[in-house]
Amino acid sequence: MSQPILVFDSGIGGLSVLAEIQRLLPSENYLYVFDNARLPYGELAEQVLIDGCVALICEQVARTNAKLVVVACNTASTLVLPPLRQKLSIPVVGVVPAIKPAAKLTVNGRIGLLATPGTIKRAYTRQLIEQFAPHCQVSLYASSELVMMGEAKLAGIPVDHKQLATILAPMLNDDIDTLVLGCTHFPLLSDEISSVLGDKVQLLDSGAAIARRVVSLLEQTDNKLKINQQAELVGIYTSMQISSGLLHGLQRKGFSRVTAYDAISAFSASES
Ligand code: DGL
Repeated sequence: MSQPILVFDSGIGGLSVLAEIQRLLPSENYLYVFDNARLPYGELAEQVLIDGCVALICEQVARTNAKLVVVACNTASTLVLPPLRQKLSIPVVGVVPAIKPAAKLTVNGRIGLLATPGTIKRAYTRQLIEQFAPHCQVSLYASSELVMMGEAKLAGIPVDHKQLATILAPMLNDDIDTLVLGCTHFPLLSDEISSVLGDKVQLLDSGAAIARRVVSLLEQTDNKLKINQQAELVGIYTSMQISSGLLHGLQRKGFSRVTAYDAISAFSASES
């Protein structure tokens, strides 16, 4: 595969961002790297998260000669973008919770931010709210269970609506009219989330904005329009193996190969 765009997440959440990028750039090659051995990232200590992500992404960029990296994970983006940009000479795009558009769209001035425990507690998130939504009341909700529900859904396990309603119940009391999905796993559950919160709460995520950013960066660096009939989508995961449900879910999303991470010969070993 030549010069892929590398899209990274802890699990399958980054697929919500990948879908938006592919919609604008269908002829690119994509390498989707997911660190499911260490999922959920929202529970990891900061330095452990940073060191693992930087090492894994840099190694995969060097191995595949990737042209651009998308850190399609809010939790990782709160920490790893500066060290990653220091090490890499290609563009690195991160995900920022859609607080700024939410502050423009809300009518009653009450916004919710639903994200992982890691994202919710970071100074980065507090600064984002202070900068872009100082006039709004922003309620914060942290959940790693929802991350795991998103993983399970792609693997074909039905969403437990009762559990979902319990997780989302606090939002119904806070009278929010706009909910920022500040974890890339959550757009994969947006129908289910809306069925609990109703149509009075609009859901916002950053996928489309990230895709536009990728296009604009490639326009600056890649001066020719790509017409690649053989565009490929391949995946690498860091656990020893994945369930057959998850493998089938990924195949349904268009993956031609999904391979276990192998530090020595990452592409040829353990092909599923
Ligand atoms: N998808 C990720 C995010 O956007 C991380 C989920 C997790 O591993 O906790 O935050």
